[in-house]
Amino acid sequence: MNKAKFITFEGVDGAGKSTHLAWFAETLRQRGLEVLVTREPGGTALGELLREILLRQPMHAETEAMLMFAARLEHIEQVIKPALQRGTWVVSDRFSDASFAYQGGGRGVQLSKLEQLERWVHADLQPDVTLLFDIPVEVARQRLSNNATLDRFEQEQGSFFEKVRQAYLDRYKKTPLRFALIDARQTPEQVKVDLTKIVALL
Ligand code: TYD
Repeated sequence: MNKAKFITFEGVDGAGKSTHLAWFAETLRQRGLEVLVTREPGGTALGELLREILLRQPMHAETEAMLMFAARLEHIEQVIKPALQRGTWVVSDRFSDASFAYQGGGRGVQLSKLEQLERWVHADLQPDVTLLFDIPVEVARQRLSNNATLDRFEQEQGSFFEKVRQAYLDRYKKTPLRFALIDARQTPEQVKVDLTKIVALL
């Protein structure tokens, strides 16, 4: 474990990634590492303001994509890169794969446009490892239905999430070595066993 790593958690809403993220970060800390936990959209003061807008206010799909990447640029420059440079590991609840999945797959924004934004905003940075929590959409939806308040994305139909899931899997197929694919249908205990194995490989 030499260079500080940038690790991202991804998956459709209801896959359970946020629950596991805190445990994962704690496991890294127990290994003596400095770990910063952050999230997207968000992670900076401006990013959190943009998050409020993005989760509530209806807008054109391409506006949504650009705001996601605008928040991301702030996040990278203010938080992610400085942390990595001082040797702190960064664990982010979502990053650009979410834009490809939600704005690309879910909303139908052209892949080439998202790739342009990705090159613009972080040509020189990719996560070292992305944990993709994959789960059948109907199972994820069932878990979400226990939540009292659903945001603008969570209120979407099942067909939207089918496209999101597929777009995530397409990202995985493109650069499989960056990803650890996690079967999120498993019990939390089984998922922790998988996460422990992943930590051992870092
Ligand atoms: P999330 O943090 O998973 O929400 P919660 O607080 O309910 O766990 O993510 C917020 C939403 O933002 C999620 O529905 C996915 C969406 N999103 C995008 O559409 N594009 C993006 O690039 C990112 C980072 C998130």
